[in-house]
Amino acid sequence: MKVNGKHYRSLWWDDAEGALQIIDQRWLPHDFRVQAVRTMQDYADAIVQMRVRGAPLIGATAAYGMALAMAEDPSDANMDAAWSHLDQTRPTAINLRWALNRCQAALRPLAEADRAAAALRLAHEIADEDVEINRRIGENGLAIIREIAARKPAGEPVRLLTHCNAGWLATVDWGTATSPMYQAFDAGIPLHVWVDETRPRNQGAMTAWELGSHGIPHKYIVDNAGGHLMQHGLVDMVIVGTDRTTRRGDVCNKIGTYLKALAARDNGVPFYVALPSPTIDWTVDDGVAEIPIEERSDFEVTHVQGRTTGRDIDTVQVAPEGTAGGNPAFDVTPNRLVTGLITERGVCEASSEGLAAMFPDMARLG
Ligand code: MRU
Repeated sequence: MKVNGKHYRSLWWDDAEGALQIIDQRWLPHDFRVQAVRTMQDYADAIVQMRVRGAPLIGATAAYGMALAMAEDPSDANMDAAWSHLDQTRPTAINLRWALNRCQAALRPLAEADRAAAALRLAHEIADEDVEINRRIGENGLAIIREIAARKPAGEPVRLLTHCNAGWLATVDWGTATSPMYQAFDAGIPLHVWVDETRPRNQGAMTAWELGSHGIPHKYIVDNAGGHLMQHGLVDMVIVGTDRTTRRGDVCNKIGTYLKALAARDNGVPFYVALPSPTIDWTVDDGVAEIPIEERSDFEVTHVQGRTTGRDIDTVQVAPEGTAGGNPAFDVTPNRLVTGLITERGVCEASSEGLAAMFPDMARLG
């Protein structure tokens, strides 16, 4: 997508430097900083520190990390070490392990001499596939937005609500939840997006920045506003991303998503999840019981980063000195609260049957 008129992906390979380039998302939306990732430790740190973030993007980053590992030492032992090192960075988004497993399965049968080049090709492939998956999710979501628009008085905007950043920054391009928004807007459908700020890290600010760069009307709201807006008929559709969706369609996403789903159900608002197939965990059924939820530092809750009136980026303390914070980073929305899953192949019911029918080639009964 475009930043100041220039097209960017959220990561790209620089042949001249022989290194992956990322946008350091810790400084967004206030400062746009690009940096190179050059060592295995740097790859792991970039994921842990959320310089790169969002399920599909950390999957693609991990694939490039594997490519670096194979360039340094293509032995089986180093492949396993890289797998473990990267797999330990963040526990919830399944795309990370999906990408690592895919790399391992493709590289293991190869002669060591061929692994470095093959690993880099595969990382490029995973990144390109992500872009195409998200573009198609956008097409399939656009059809839903078009139907809602057709039921409204001409010219009245379709009002969407989203949580966190499931935008192009969280993927290689397009975003998952935002891809239908970009495509609907480009198709001339009037839109208005309510953007949850998404405490504690305020990823919603990145969504607002993305939407603003694309000219999509939106308002940045506090996380607790959604229920009120829905009660007053001001939300036509909720659309969120996912970090891991189980084979029966339970959706794990950024903390607070579940509360939006409950409010949506209580108010008869359709609640859709944009779901790329690499985010499906076919080994897990019950999301609440089985998905590991990342517990992050309480510093993220007790402190907030932002831009000062002097335009510096700074961090301030919100909670009283010595207050302990709790910081579960994700929650699980049970499938019964999900109206539909918008995948790259089409829209399906959030159920074992729905997902198995959409992905018969991938479905496993566990
Ligand atoms: O902790 P984050 O910022 O990596 O969490 C991101 C989310 O929860 C997104 O909504 C999810 O990854 C879907 S991204 C397309």
